Amino acid sequence: MSLRIEKLSEHLAAEVSGIDLASPIPEDAFAALKHAFYRHSVLVFHDQDIDEDQQISFSKRFGPLEPTMVNDPSGGGGWINHLSNIDEEGNIIPPADPRMLYNKGNSLWHSDSSYKEVPSRGALLYAVEVPPEGGGTEYASMKAAYAALPEEKKKNLEGLVAEHSLLHSRNKIAPGLMDRKFQQEVPPVKQTLVREIPETGEKTFFVGAHASHVIDWPIGKGRDLLEELMEWATQPRFVYKHAWKPRDLVMWDNRCSLHRGRPWDAANHRRIMRRTTLLGDGPTV
Ligand code: SIN
Repeated sequence: MSLRIEKLSEHLAAEVSGIDLASPIPEDAFAALKHAFYRHSVLVFHDQDIDEDQQISFSKRFGPLEPTMVNDPSGGGGWINHLSNIDEEGNIIPPADPRMLYNKGNSLWHSDSSYKEVPSRGALLYAVEVPPEGGGTEYASMKAAYAALPEEKKKNLEGLVAEHSLLHSRNKIAPGLMDRKFQQEVPPVKQTLVREIPETGEKTFFVGAHASHVIDWPIGKGRDLLEELMEWATQPRFVYKHAWKPRDLVMWDNRCSLHRGRPWDAANHRRIMRRTTLLGDGPTV
């Protein structure tokens, strides 16, 4: 195995080649992968022929996984999130179906599971089928965005805590999408606004679509700050855009990046993706 890692953009993302994720990966190669993951925040692997079990075992080498949510409209309680516009009979799911509306929440810049007390560490998304146009995924570096902030601004962010909630972000897509049972599964949580990444000592800010407001601040003032930070973090200079090919696997660090899925002609073209999600190390506050 001769692993190669090549940067794809200035601030985040690298392509990994010379590796077959369906075969056992020796310790030294895995250590190099982990190092690259912490350094680049997003890793891209092409031409990987892996089934669900192989994706799960590769993902688990990075740590425990998050189970899917019980009330997830696409089915809960497993290790794989099925992000797809195709139903079990192979038909295209209509755009107004709750499964499509729910997954549309992924088109907003976000960090997976920031609405959980223990937010996710990372995620691995595998492309089974992709549309001929559109349907890409974009990644923004919160590490680079934080580092580029003026020092005064960094000081003002220290110690701030935001409330994150799935209800808040899904209401932006379709109010009423989450019933009471679903809301009870994921009540609002508190997340620190500035995080330090233990493996590298680097700082990032923790924002995204699920961040609703700043604790102990007037709602409007907190929303303005979160909006300002989101705009700052997602400037084109901090962004890598991934155009999917079938059998691509992309993994990302949810602590250091935001991401969003891009639209495609979902009424006419198939897009079948599966995601495994890495459990975080613990609460941030
Ligand atoms: C996700 O947000 O986890 C998936 C994004 C996508 O479907 O491109």
